[in-house]
Order: sequence, then structure tokens, then C-alpha cells
Amino acid sequence: MVAGSDQANIGQFVEQLKEFLEFQKDRGRPFLPWSKKNRETSESSNRHPGPIESLQALSRVILGCQKCRLFRHRRQAVPGEGSLPVCLMFIGEGPGFEEDQQGRPFVGPAGQLLTKMIKAIDLNREEVYITNVVKCRPPENRPPLEDEVEACRPFLEEEIRLINPQLLVTLGSCATQTMTRTQKKISDLRGRLLKVNGRRLIATYHPAYLLRNPGAKREAWEDLKRVRREYDELEK
Ligand code: URA
Repeated sequence: MVAGSDQANIGQFVEQLKEFLEFQKDRGRPFLPWSKKNRETSESSNRHPGPIESLQALSRVILGCQKCRLFRHRRQAVPGEGSLPVCLMFIGEGPGFEEDQQGRPFVGPAGQLLTKMIKAIDLNREEVYITNVVKCRPPENRPPLEDEVEACRPFLEEEIRLINPQLLVTLGSCATQTMTRTQKKISDLRGRLLKVNGRRLIATYHPAYLLRNPGAKREAWEDLKRVRREYDELEK
């Protein structure tokens, strides 16, 4: 006999499996990679989706994700945002109240400051990609826990793979530590050109921190100027 909670777990597992298979299908990957028929179909098919279709498929998986406890608290998951192609990606920590309400990253007070920071280097939000380490709002806006970051990491990695940005900007210590896989303080890493998996990375303060500590804006401005210089290098 299957107990009620086991039934719920099985139901949840089946839903996640369905989402995963849909995701694989959308990416042109075979349903069963070891099946000859599927291998031939996938290899001979030229219906491989481009990055945009794959990003849409990824968003669908993110919206239905239940891999960690955060899904219980969210109103909705918040995938990254931006149109392709872009070479610059901003990575924050996780959605806050407004983002959870609207389903878009960085639209609350910190988001308004981020928009200004992007404008300050003569770009606009449409020219960059904006995402977060975790895609669901942690309760009371607490920092995401390590297992939540790890559960969400494949989504961030997949966004990076699909968008292929040459320059990453991490906002705050959560994004910086996640991307560099270190525990170093943001104050030790910010403003320098780092390399992560062959991509350039510049860390700066999180806009929410800057709202609480306006005195740090001067350093953030130095970091942003560095971002702009690296961006100009990419354009050459
Ligand atoms: N803070 C973040 O880190 N991300 C958001 O999307 C909003 C606030």
C-alpha cells in the first residue's frame, strides 16, 4: 500500500520527469539517448532549436521547478531576462518581493538601482541579460542556503551556456562566491578582472547593499567603469 505522502512524492517526481523530458525534447535531445531509433532521429534531424527556443524551454522548466524547498514559498519562479544576442550578463542573488510578484528579475528597488547602474555605462536593460543565482524568492529575502544554490546551479549554468556571454558581472557575495566557487569576500574580489571557465568576470556590490550603504557607490562606480572598458574590448 502506498501512503498519501509517498503518493504525493511519486506525483511530484512524475511531474518533474515530464518537465525534464519536455526540456530535452525542446533541445532536440532524444527521449531515450540509448535508443537507436531516437539516436538516428535526433542525429539526422535539423530541427535543433536555437538558443532562443532553448531559453524558452529552460524558462518553462524553471517555472515548474520543485527541486528545493524554495518553491513552497514562491508566488512564481523568476527566470533570467534579456533578448539575444548579448555579451554581458548580470547575475544577482535571488528574487525579492517585487520580482516574485511580477515574475521578472530586478524590478524592485534594487532593480531600479541596477537599471541606473546599467544606464550609467551607456547601456540599457535590453542590451544585457539579467538573472539570479536562485530563481525563487527565499522567505523574508534571506540569503539562499547552500543546497538551494546547488539545486539551482544547473539553471544558471544552462543560461550561461545558451547565452554564451563573454563578460559576467556578479552582484554581491552570493553570486560572486557561486560563480568563483570560493568563500572570498566581495570586498576582496570586486573590481578586478577574473576568469571563470574561460569567461571574463567582474564582481561588484549588490545594488541592495548600495541602497543600504550609499558610501560604497563610489567603489561600485569604479567597478562599473571597469565593466565598460572590458565591454568595449569585446566589441573590437
Ligand atoms: N535582488 C536580487 O538579487 N535579484 C533580484 O532579482 C532582485 C533583488
